[in-house]
Amino acid sequence: MPLKKFSHRAGGLSRISALPMIAAALLISSAAALAVAPPAGESNRGVAAGKSRFEKLCVACHGQDGVGGKGPSLQRTGLEEAFIRQRIIEGKHGDQAMPPWGTVLSADAIEELVAYVRWLGEHKGEAAKAAVTPFALNDPARIEAGRKRFNKTCAGYCHGFEGKGGRAPDFKGRTDLPIQVVFDTITHGRTGADVMPPWGGAFSDEQIWELVAYIQYLGTQKDE
Ligand code: HEC
Repeated sequence: MPLKKFSHRAGGLSRISALPMIAAALLISSAAALAVAPPAGESNRGVAAGKSRFEKLCVACHGQDGVGGKGPSLQRTGLEEAFIRQRIIEGKHGDQAMPPWGTVLSADAIEELVAYVRWLGEHKGEAAKAAVTPFALNDPARIEAGRKRFNKTCAGYCHGFEGKGGRAPDFKGRTDLPIQVVFDTITHGRTGADVMPPWGGAFSDEQIWELVAYIQYLGTQKDE
């Protein structure tokens, strides 16, 4: 069947061409990010979870890092905690409506969003772009969990043992990879000239941060 043969060949081809393509993905993204490297990260579980949910539910109106858009900027001091909570739960009618989330989200999820909006009030501009991690990235147990996941999922196919000698740039000894860029690249993947597959559907945020912890750890290792 010519059709079958063709689709088989097409599948094979795209797989072959994707492999070398993956190589430069992180390198390119890190070079781009280097110019505007945001401050290193801080660790706060609730804020990290709130930020992640905010990026799914709220950025469309409030902008990336809450800079504002259809909805007001949230990088503002003076928003009371109780007001923030009430607004998120009840929303607000008007020409520019704020949807109510009280019946959609759990109480915990709402508290995480409140924590993140409050964090935004204290972190404006460049500071609001800083990564917030759910745990300290130098936690040895997390690094170990990341190492295992990395070896199982990332090493064989593309990134090599200890992130070295694979089809992608080496991670060992790399100190120029901002953690938020690494997290975003693993979560969303990267397309364009290069293909890095997205893992956001397969791994939780915390599992991805464990990979970031391991990659950051590799960066501190001597590249022999
Ligand atoms: C459809 C667009 C839209 C979405 C989605 C949205 N908002 Fe809003 N939000 C608004 C608008 C518009 C206002 C201003 C309402 C007003 O005061 O008239 C607002 C106001 C707020 C306020 C009060 C800020 C102030 O200065 O009064 C907070 C806090 C807030 N939103 C948080 C969130 C969070 C958290 C999410 C995600 C769960 C979210 N919003 C999703 C449009 C949106």
